Amino acid sequence: MGEHHEPIPPLATVGHLALDERELVTWGEQLGRSLAPPLVIAIAGELGAGKTTLTQAICRGYGVTDGVTSPTFTLVHEYSGRRSKVYHLDLYRLRSSRELEAIGWDDIVAEHALVIVEWPDRAAELMPPGHIPISLAHLPERPDRRLLYAGGHT
Ligand SMILES: Nc1ncnc2c1ncn2[C@@H]1O[C@H](COP(=O)(O)OP(=O)(O)OP(=O)(O)O)[C@@H](O)[C@H]1O
Ligand SMILES: [Mg+2]
Repeated sequence: MGEHHEPIPPLATVGHLALDERELVTWGEQLGRSLAPPLVIAIAGELGAGKTTLTQAICRGYGVTDGVTSPTFTLVHEYSGRRSKVYHLDLYRLRSSRELEAIGWDDIVAEHALVIVEWPDRAAELMPPGHIPISLAHLPERPDRRLLYAGGHT
């Protein structure tokens, strides 16, 4: 048994990667290709961290052919992918949970769809259990790179 036993490294449950934009896009496209609905992905990160850039890449990999833009002024955009509908939400300007109700949040996150949420912290406890958390962070000393953190328990 001995040599077959690989202890799990303490850091294996978290991943840190500093990616340039091309690497982030490649990663997102691969992720998008591998996804199956129903799935809710939360992408956290400050302004300009790359949330929309990553969303566009995931959507491309998922087979969305419409242009994916930033839904900042509408809260939600809907696309069709190869395997299901895709909902892209940007909750930056969300002011109350009533606004989430108004856009049909409960139905969206229960649908057989891929749901990608920018600024998920705005929805707080309304994010459904089981969603996939991803976060992007600036690196002060590397303006062309972002720290990518993916996975973990929700
Ligand atoms: N490594 C990188 N990964 C992603 N974007 C990068 C990277 N390096 C530079 N950028 C630039 O950072 C910007 C990220 O913009 P993007 O709209 O994707 O951010 P965002 O997190 O969605 O912002 P917002 O909070 O305003 O919605 C783009 O202009 C992109 O070209
Ligand atoms: Mg954005």
